[in-house]
Amino acid sequence: MASFRIAVIAGDGIGKEVTPQGLRVLEAAGKRAGASFEFAEQDWGSEYYFQHGRMMPVAGVEMLAEADAIFLGAIGHPDIPDHVTLNGLLLPIRRAFDQYACVRPSYLYPGVKSPLEGKQSGSIDMVVVRENTEGEYSQVGGFVYHRMPEEVAIQTSVFTRHGCERVMRYAFDLARRRNKKSRVTSVTKSNAQGYGMVLWDRTFAEVAREYPDISTESLLVDAAAMNFIRRPESFDVVVASNLFGDILTDISAIITGSMGLAASANINPNREVPSMFEPVHGSAPDIAGQGIANPLGSILSAGMLLEHLGLEAAAQGVERAAAAILAEGKVLPRDLGGKASTGEVTDAVLDHL
Ligand code: NAD
Ligand code: IPM
Ligand code: MN
Repeated sequence: MASFRIAVIAGDGIGKEVTPQGLRVLEAAGKRAGASFEFAEQDWGSEYYFQHGRMMPVAGVEMLAEADAIFLGAIGHPDIPDHVTLNGLLLPIRRAFDQYACVRPSYLYPGVKSPLEGKQSGSIDMVVVRENTEGEYSQVGGFVYHRMPEEVAIQTSVFTRHGCERVMRYAFDLARRRNKKSRVTSVTKSNAQGYGMVLWDRTFAEVAREYPDISTESLLVDAAAMNFIRRPESFDVVVASNLFGDILTDISAIITGSMGLAASANINPNREVPSMFEPVHGSAPDIAGQGIANPLGSILSAGMLLEHLGLEAAAQGVERAAAAILAEGKVLPRDLGGKASTGEVTDAVLDHL
């Protein structure tokens, strides 16, 4: 029996509620595929911060390094500034393990209503591949005259040819594997950002030449935001910088039903270090502690984890089970118009596995 070590960071807010549900499904689906898991759960996050003054131990990253994958919930607490929590835990992990491709699929499942009028199920079927280690999130900069009236803040975006190239190749390879519309859309803002985004565009054109079988399109990010609403059916794979990809994936999530459904994978394809799987949503303090969070984003992220481990059949089983409860419409979480609790939604998924 194949056995995998999974590091688990449930984190804060609804991260603590959805993560155990994702793990239930991971374990059940893995078992049916002959795989077992050893979970190393870490209590890192905001409660840890209140006790220790940091979000994770100094050796946190090293503690994760031996895992086959990392499964994360959400980070963020109303009483701690977000730049402290996220730069203390989530973002350093993405960078430390060079998880440069953040893969965020959006599919309009049968039974789920898009807020966009008249959308047929299956008509929206896209994946945003977000650059995940550099760009606007490089965390290069500083304060001058810190906290003085004349304070200056500098936040530098770093775009490298290497960084652009590898995430773009990942996007093109994914478009080939998906074998759907065979199209990659690049998101840019080179009309205003005349350096980083110019390198982005040039690199995109160069990489595209290696993939003559894949059609391409380049959209300015403002137009891309509009077109995610106006013609979401036209997208297949979308490749975007760190910040643009972050913003656009809230749009792709909501037009396919809910933030609560959106899954993501932070991938380092080299497999020498762990990749990380997490729902797209945050800690949702507005609904935390009520047991009503939609666990499907976490469950579908568990599916992506299974796929990454090479357990394709198990991964497909998870997606089919999630799709089945959505299509049936009997046991739905509140954000999708139902009344079921976090645990009841998971029970229904497990019934279908
Ligand atoms: P959010 O994703 O937490 O919530 C946005 C809205 O979507 C809220 O109304 C929330 O109730 C709803 N929602 C989100 N997930 C849901 C689910 N599973 N089921 C039902 N409803 C759901 O975004 P926010 O409110 O902007 O951020 C809250 C905190 O989370 C902040 O501290 C932010 O920095 C952090 N955050 C963390 C992550 C992460 O850890 N990956 C991602 C985004 C935001
Ligand atoms: C996401 C989140 C994070 C991001 C935040 C919490 C730093 O919004 O994963 O989409 O911007 O990457
Ligand atoms: Mn986001």
